[in-house]
Amino acid sequence: MAKRPDGKNTSGRGQRDLTVKVKTARGRKSSSTRWLQRQLNDPYVKRAQAEGYRGRAAFKIMELDDKYRFLVPGARVVDLGCAPGGWCQVAVPRVNALGEKQGKAQGRILGVDLQEVEPIAGCEIHQLDFMEDDADEKVKAWLGGKADVVMSDMAAASSGHKQTDHLRIIALCEAAAYLAFDVLEEGGTFVSKVLAGGAEGELQKLLKQRFAKVANVKPPASRPDSSEKFVVATGFRG
Ligand SMILES: C[S@@+](CC[C@H](N)C(=O)[O-])C[C@H]1O[C@@H](n2cnc3c(N)ncnc32)[C@H](O)[C@@H]1O
Repeated sequence: MAKRPDGKNTSGRGQRDLTVKVKTARGRKSSSTRWLQRQLNDPYVKRAQAEGYRGRAAFKIMELDDKYRFLVPGARVVDLGCAPGGWCQVAVPRVNALGEKQGKAQGRILGVDLQEVEPIAGCEIHQLDFMEDDADEKVKAWLGGKADVVMSDMAAASSGHKQTDHLRIIALCEAAAYLAFDVLEEGGTFVSKVLAGGAEGELQKLLKQRFAKVANVKPPASRPDSSEKFVVATGFRG
């Protein structure tokens, strides 16, 4: 029987695939009803539940890694904004963080989030606001050396104001990029969530100077109606 990332065994039984309709309950806003309906009918949400991932975000990093192959055995990974832990769950077997793949190098995963994260075997996770003044120093001390991958899915809670949200996400992405410049090994990879449109030009310019290749990708698991996309910068020049 196959093992799931949450440690449970798969039942092998097929999933029922019925569309769930949500009635607008008293006291629930219609936007919440729409969110709930979309969540209940989202195939990636169902797949995450069936396969034992903590969230649908797991499939985004899976799809990005299937294309760019940065989560390799032995890789030292920093996962910024890692709660509830889907990206970490995907990274554990790929980098061989538990040393289960004999004859392959054992990797390491260091996760950081504002929120507390339930432990994940093979990951070292710290609760930290990465926008704090000395956050970089703390992460570097925990890391104790170089990293091969810095990945960030950090996103601040939505303010409801599109431009504000955009600027916040770019600030998070920039902070992640500066950590990457400091800790990445030559040839390393930086992956970060960004939002399409506007203010990210400077960041793209900076990344192009420091990495051999910079791609902007919308993985299939990223909701088509969201302006989210991911920047994947490979071949860090050091
Ligand atoms: C979309 S979720 C990440 C999902 C995660 N990749 C996964 O697969 O489970 C975004 C995360 O960014 C975190 N975050 C936002 N701002 C942050 C900050 N300043 N420092 C650390 N984490 C932050 C949030 O707490 C949230 O857990």
